[in-house]
Amino acid sequence: PPAPPVTLVIFGATGDLTRRLLVPAIINMTRLGMAGDDLTVLGIGIEDRDAEDLRASLDSFHAEAGGEGAVEKGAAWERLRGRIDYLSGDFTKDAIYETLSSRLSGNVAFYLAVPPRFFGDIVDRLADHGLMREGDDAFRRIAVEKPFGHDLASAQALNARMLGKVAERQLFRIDHFLGKETVQNIMTARFANTMIETLWTSNSIDHIQITAAETVDVGTRGSFYDPTGALRDMVPNHLFQLLAMVAMEPPNSFDAEAIRDEKGKALKAIRVYPPDEARANGVRGVYGAGEVQGKPVAAYHAADGVSPDSTTETYVALKLMVDTWRWAGVPFYLRTGKAMTARDTEVVVTFKHVPYAQFGGMGAERLPPNRLIIQVQPDEGLSMEMLIKRPGLAVETAPVSLDFHYADRFGIAALTGYETLLYDLFTGDQTLFQRADAIEAGWAAVQPFLDAWAEGKPDGYAAGSAGPQAAADLIERDGRAWHDLAAPD
Ligand code: BG6
Repeated sequence: PPAPPVTLVIFGATGDLTRRLLVPAIINMTRLGMAGDDLTVLGIGIEDRDAEDLRASLDSFHAEAGGEGAVEKGAAWERLRGRIDYLSGDFTKDAIYETLSSRLSGNVAFYLAVPPRFFGDIVDRLADHGLMREGDDAFRRIAVEKPFGHDLASAQALNARMLGKVAERQLFRIDHFLGKETVQNIMTARFANTMIETLWTSNSIDHIQITAAETVDVGTRGSFYDPTGALRDMVPNHLFQLLAMVAMEPPNSFDAEAIRDEKGKALKAIRVYPPDEARANGVRGVYGAGEVQGKPVAAYHAADGVSPDSTTETYVALKLMVDTWRWAGVPFYLRTGKAMTARDTEVVVTFKHVPYAQFGGMGAERLPPNRLIIQVQPDEGLSMEMLIKRPGLAVETAPVSLDFHYADRFGIAALTGYETLLYDLFTGDQTLFQRADAIEAGWAAVQPFLDAWAEGKPDGYAAGSAGPQAAADLIERDGRAWHDLAAPD
């Protein structure tokens, strides 16, 4: 069913997120019947312009978006276009909130698509102007983009500040990875399949790798990225969401709170290293000039907005432990980086060797282990690597891979991932949003790395490579190796 009638108020309506993701998602929702004609959008921005300017600036999507669904997208945009309004004003001043109070009634979702330094202030002002007060049949909700805080202390302070004014059930902390089908599928793959979940423990699993490799470089985002870096940008949020999905215990129900309880417990179980152990279990890198998929890429330090003596990392690799009964002794190796050889987001679960075997002269320890690869993107799917008998007289093994590709079975709708998140925001389902405790648990686990890296600088790696040598060393010292990054498509 379509979401209930709602006004979506977007702070930062003229920004990149609105044009690239939010509006396209609403167009898709309109097209797919997830939102009806009673959804209206009110954009807020500092620029002095009018609704027609904003609409015109958004017109380019369906003109640019060719391919499948382009015609319906065009029609959906025409339906939506007239329901987009614009309010110009400064959201750090009271006037605009007074205008909002007089204009808004009924269900309202405020979306903070603004730099994080404004989050606390906007929430205060919304609450102080009575805009967060819910009627019996009208909701008031806030969606906050990441990054939520820049370290443990600031995340705690921001949570405390917001929760002093609005209820947790009104706060929707976005992590767009949770909008991805393949991320949501991790829970289904585990909890709908006996043959996966019964093996999902330290009894059978040797180690787990979680990778988010990107080919894109810092591009024009230097002024955001340089004070942030790869650790803050990707780890306590996106990578930890993947980790939580992999490591959580089965929830007693699929209610939002039951799931968030289990995810929270998993994140709280990530070992918080003392600083010297953080230093020993983490590697950071920064890309130098190189070539990514045939195109030359300048060094990170040459990018606009990046300080010449920046010590910001564009790559991190971490070895983490999850201290629970299920995961004792199973390392979780995480890595993420920009300007790498391939775009590849995946979870790779490597199983233990069989205890005994003699195949074609190979002992158990030399047989390649089973692997389950959850391919988050691109080429979304799941593969199981196993051994079969090589046809012939000799009793020898051959590795094979059983592959499932979403595109083969379902076709992949060209969605942004924000469709589900906005739908859940409008219907009040918090399953795919981060609760305060999970956010803080994530920061607590990365804080030792932030502290350890407050001094010194990252290792170099060439753009277009698989990361710094020290990252390979980090896993190889344990007798393991990183899974190859997928070949470029
Ligand atoms: C964002 C980060 O949250 O996620 C970006 O700020 C990163 O730096 C992006 O590129 C990756 O998301 P996706 O969906 O493209 O894998």
